[in-house]
Amino acid sequence: MTGTGLLELKEVSSSYYSGETLLPVLDNVSLKVGEGEFVSLLGPSGSGKSTVLKIAAGLLEPDRGRVIYRGRDVTGEPRRVGYMPQQDMLFPWKTLAQNAALPLLCAGSGKRDAAARVEEMLPLFGLEGFGDYYPYQLSGGMRQRSALMRTMLIESNLWLLDEPFAALDALTRENLQGWLLRIWERFKGAVLFVTHSIDEAIYLSDRVYMISNRPGRIILEEVINLPRPRPRQVITTAQFAGYKETLLRTLAGEGY
Ligand SMILES: Nc1ncnc2c1ncn2[C@@H]1O[C@H](COP(=O)(O)OP(=O)(O)OP(=O)(O)O)[C@@H](O)[C@H]1O
Ligand SMILES: [Mg+2]
Repeated sequence: MTGTGLLELKEVSSSYYSGETLLPVLDNVSLKVGEGEFVSLLGPSGSGKSTVLKIAAGLLEPDRGRVIYRGRDVTGEPRRVGYMPQQDMLFPWKTLAQNAALPLLCAGSGKRDAAARVEEMLPLFGLEGFGDYYPYQLSGGMRQRSALMRTMLIESNLWLLDEPFAALDALTRENLQGWLLRIWERFKGAVLFVTHSIDEAIYLSDRVYMISNRPGRIILEEVINLPRPRPRQVITTAQFAGYKETLLRTLAGEGY
């Protein structure tokens, strides 16, 4: 396992109440994210992936199990963490720059400092010159990059990203995957990344966890030993195909 422990979910079980009915969602889920590690959580729709991220962010308290962050029990404690929910959640009445500045302002930065920091980040996220645009004036890919930029501006060693590329066309998605790896290498934080895509999980990750149909259990943990930095062509290698075969076989066991 790479890196020392940063985040750990220990035997987490969770359920929701829908009226009178109890819906079990997670069953004894344990996973780890090391310092600076890129970990993906892959699984079918409705298996509880977003629920795992909410629990990891402290926005939801599990029925059973613990969340340990840097050796401390933080179960159910909301705290400063770079969490990007499944919907991009940009405020439509604020410009891109104003949206991106929010975490800095919440952390106590002055308006001018926050604006300067955002301005400096825009080129890195391919958004130079678009700071004054409102979300509706941006393309889908630009909105996702804006939401990612806002997430990365939260001072944290851990980013929890919930399917940031799911709504994009294949070409934009591939482009943003390579771009995310470059950003991650530069920021040196750890990432817990939720996805439905086997290729995306392998291409991006140091380790992939696969979660079963609901109630979600971890049914596979696969270390991805592809060298870094990863050129796109890595997806055509026999090693990549080997990982894909393993993950597909496990999914097939779940009826996919
Ligand atoms: N707030 C809630 N109240 C009641 N049920 C919920 C709530 N949030 C999620 N669920 C249920 O929990 C299950 C898991 O949801 P979750 O969003 O974690 O799945 P997911 O793996 O992220 O799915 P997807 O891949 O479609 O995003 C689903 O059956 C969903 O209906
Ligand atoms: Mg989800």
